[in-house]
Amino acid sequence: MSERIEDIAVKMVAGGKGLLAADESTATIKKRFDAISLVSTEESRRDYREMLFRSDDAMKKYISGVILYEETLFQKAADGTPFVDIIKAAGSIPGIKVDVGAKPLAGFPGETVTEGLDGLADRLAKYYDAGARFAKWRGVIAISDVLPTYGAIKANAHALARYAALCQQAGIVPIVEPEVLMDGEPGTQSLDRSEDVTRWTLQIVFQELAEARVKLEGMILKPSMVIDGKKARKASVEQVAERTVKVLKETVPSAVPGIAFLSGGQSTEEATAHLSAINSGHDLPWKVTFSYGRALQDSALKAWGGKAENVAAGQRAFTHRAEMNYLAAKGDWTKEREKAA
Ligand code: 13P
Repeated sequence: MSERIEDIAVKMVAGGKGLLAADESTATIKKRFDAISLVSTEESRRDYREMLFRSDDAMKKYISGVILYEETLFQKAADGTPFVDIIKAAGSIPGIKVDVGAKPLAGFPGETVTEGLDGLADRLAKYYDAGARFAKWRGVIAISDVLPTYGAIKANAHALARYAALCQQAGIVPIVEPEVLMDGEPGTQSLDRSEDVTRWTLQIVFQELAEARVKLEGMILKPSMVIDGKKARKASVEQVAERTVKVLKETVPSAVPGIAFLSGGQSTEEATAHLSAINSGHDLPWKVTFSYGRALQDSALKAWGGKAENVAAGQRAFTHRAEMNYLAAKGDWTKEREKAA
């Protein structure tokens, strides 16, 4: 019996649970492993992800779905159990990153367009058969005093919309991720500038989604927060939350069941504090939760350090972060709860 995409989308964001973005490409996971001086091999990537997916408590209580890279979708744990089965046994949903990365956009210096549409319908059918019920595509919007350009936002929004339509046709919920970067030079990425660029980007994304006839009830939005550049952060947690809520209310139709933020290089605690502030004291028409990569994994990766004897410590660190973000998705996180755990 096939599930409706609307029901899957609702389940992805229900009850304070959120998504674990474990879909680092082979190049990106190598960078993460370099930081703990671990060589990236098929086996070390498997061991790392097995540690995360076998964190039973975290997976059952806090994680509604896991975004996987293609290698992991078809990979097995050390004992031969497919990762997809481990994720499903915890009551979580397997998902798959389907874009092939942001590539320089011809004619637009400093900007990119995300590729991966060619042959996507065939790949989605294969991923569906392997158990994936949602997908992710990340469009990247550079920010400076002169970027982004309309042309680059439009190209990325168009690709996101075509991807989303193909996913829905395949019975897969599209996570639509237009990431406005937060690495603008000091002075070029104020909170005001971030607000304007995020609003502009989301307006064009939802226009393209409408033109592509994407069903809003069967998708999840994965945006960046409205935040000033990380090189000279001045905005308070409350300011980030207010501006983010304002822009989302202006641009995201209430038919969208859920918004799941990326962390984009925020520190782990910052990402949690912002999410909790967004969820407390605001009347929001959608569920708002997390779809964090680095902000869920950083402490676990360090605690594990690539050593078998540290698996339990890594799992404890991951479970703690997942719990803190689950509280944040309900607006219930506080610094005291952070320390008490
Ligand atoms: P971060 O939370 O580390 O930004 O990763 C989320 C993600 O999936 C980016 O595409």
